[in-house]
This record gives sequence, C-alpha cells and structure tokens, in this order.
Amino acid sequence: MESENTKKLQIAIFASHTGTNMQAIIDACRRGDLNGDVCAVISNNSNSQALEKARTSGVRAYHLSNKTHPEEDELDEAIYKVLTESGTNIVVLAGYMKKIGPKVLKHYKGRILNIHPSLLPKYGGKGMYGSNVHRAVIDAGEKITGVTIHLVEEEYDTGKIIRQCEIEVLESDTIDTLSKRVLEKENSFYVETLKLISENEIKLQ
Ligand code: GRF
Repeated sequence: MESENTKKLQIAIFASHTGTNMQAIIDACRRGDLNGDVCAVISNNSNSQALEKARTSGVRAYHLSNKTHPEEDELDEAIYKVLTESGTNIVVLAGYMKKIGPKVLKHYKGRILNIHPSLLPKYGGKGMYGSNVHRAVIDAGEKITGVTIHLVEEEYDTGKIIRQCEIEVLESDTIDTLSKRVLEKENSFYVETLKLISENEIKLQ
C-alpha cells in the first residue's frame, strides 16, 4: 500500500559474483516483506552466479562490462539506459567490483547504496574486499567487526554511512567462519535497511 510514509522501491542490483545479498532482496520483495521490486540486475561478469540466480528468479538481468562496451562512457551510458528504462529509483550494489560511471553517479546521487563487510572507515578502501577484509580484522586482533551500508561516491567505501551493525569476532574464528557469519548478517541487514528506507524511517538525502 502506497502512502505518504511508504515508497515502493524500484531496485536495480549490481553484483559481480555470488549474489547472496541480491537473492535475499529478490526473495524479500517476492514474499512482500519489502515494499519493492527488483527491476534489473546488472553484472560485469557474464559467468557470475548472480546473473544466473537473477535469471532463474525471473528478474531481468544484464551483462554490461568493458567486454560489451570497451569505451568507459559507452558503458556508463548503457547502464544508465537500463536504469532509466526499468524505472529504477534506487541502486543497490551487492559485491559489485567495478566503479560506477559519472553519468550514473550524477543522476542517482544519494540513491546508490553499497554494503561492506566491516565497520567502516575501518578496513575499507582499495584492496579491502572479500577475505582480505576478514583476514585484516583477525590479524589486528579485533574483538568486534560488522557490516556497513553507505552511500556511493567516486572513491571506494567513502560515502555517508547509512547504517552499521556490530558482529562479535570469536577467539575460534577463522577467515572462513567469520566471512560466513558476516555474510549471513549482511543478507538480512540489507533487506531491513531497504525496508526502513521504503518506510521513510531512513532518509537518504
Ligand atoms: C559481500 O560480503 C559484500 O559486503 C561485499 O561483497 C560480498 C558480496 O556477496 N561487497 P554476495 O555476492 O552478495 O554473496
């Protein structure tokens, strides 16, 4: 039901690899837990599980990369076209390993989210992805790590923080056990955060 305080999200998800966050968001929309539709999935990786899962779920999925569009500005334009034609009103990055082009950044400013598996600004920036993040957290002897959802700007992991949650690092944790626990939390935390945005409990701009 649409009212002054709720907004149906038309979500485009960008994903490069496994797509567990993407799947959690698709499922939440389908179950009616989230007032939204996933109107497009874009991946730079033609072999990604994310694209396969999106297609299996009946979501429009696009491989757009420097293989399909060798010129940066053409790629930016092609992505922008998918977003506008699908009626996207929020862009959700979920394990997307490429930078966003200037046209998409400009037109969707304040409406592009990313999830990062640490408590930013700690363990963010170039090279801090996947198991590198959890290795650095364990090597530093951190007792607490977490998940951050933030707005996307030109640089990696620097935009305004929208929401964070803490996760305990256990004495017994290995990179694998910690990665798995953090990823499970990410899946529900992304859905909850989008729900709060759709209910206007979180204002992006
Ligand atoms: C997540 O850990 C996310 O924080 C990071 O990339 C991973 C994506 O996982 N940016 P998935 O593709 O959603 O399973």
